Amino acid sequence: MPRISVLNMKGGVGKTTASIHIAAGLAGRGNRVLLIDADPQGNISHTLNLRHGTTLRELMLDEASIDEAVVRDVRENLDVIVSTTAAFSLERQLAGAMQRETIMSRRFNNLAEYDFVVVDTSPAMNLITFNALLFADAAVIPVSMDLMAVIGARQTLSGICEVRQLWPDRRLDILAVLPTLVNHSTNATRATLELLNSDPQFNSLVHPGGIRQCLDLTYAAAAHQTIWEYAPRSRAAEDFNTFVDFIEHSTRSETLVAYAKI
Ligand SMILES: Nc1ncnc2c1ncn2[C@@H]1O[C@H](COP(=O)(O)OP(=O)(O)OP(=O)(O)O)[C@@H](O)[C@H]1O
Ligand SMILES: [Mg+2]
Repeated sequence: MPRISVLNMKGGVGKTTASIHIAAGLAGRGNRVLLIDADPQGNISHTLNLRHGTTLRELMLDEASIDEAVVRDVRENLDVIVSTTAAFSLERQLAGAMQRETIMSRRFNNLAEYDFVVVDTSPAMNLITFNALLFADAAVIPVSMDLMAVIGARQTLSGICEVRQLWPDRRLDILAVLPTLVNHSTNATRATLELLNSDPQFNSLVHPGGIRQCLDLTYAAAAHQTIWEYAPRSRAAEDFNTFVDFIEHSTRSETLVAYAKI
């Protein structure tokens, strides 16, 4: 079962938007999907309008079971574990815990009912993000069309390399670098795509096309809907469909080694 973390150390690049649409898109294709919010900002619950007393924080503190934390059937085939700002205190609360970086992996060691797990992360390389890195076997790195987002992606790669050095038995491959907020009529987009495509660490991983800039994504979030519910004929609906097809194909196919080692 592929476990996909969506990561970028830069804020506001489209991680939450990508996480929700990867998860909802895979669920819409008939896969059983668990979406985990590993960001104390709690943007998944805001976007999908979920309120649930038991969150990732209680799970990580071993105060609740997965069954208690899961919000079931948020959409057909889609379950969610939410976070709230209370998770900001996890770092301090788990300061003395043994092997605190692998809590998520150990707590989620039995998720057999799901075909995919998707984890949304925060832009900070904090304890929860580290847990998400060690839990995942594949990473998607959204990069919005500005230099700072590329720098954030490079910092994310460093974090992934660190994980590989410290825990060599863990598999964590880059599934895709996903250009977001793409607007081909701007110099910023052209320059950023050129930068990504000429970067030896990124160029083979950049998803062609990416997700074009589309205000409907913001309106959809405000309406607590996915883009396919809110504006099924929009550019973003089309682009996320293409990307979810890519994710499904590259994680399912035995022969296609789309997972790239860096
Ligand atoms: N392709 C797009 N076109 C237009 N707006 C977009 C696009 N993708 C995301 N957005 C908007 O950009 C904002 C930031 O997106 P999002 O919350 O997904 O970023 P994030 O990386 O999760 O941020 P954070 O680092 O704070 O968690 C949101 O308002 C979202 O609706
Ligand atoms: Mg976010």
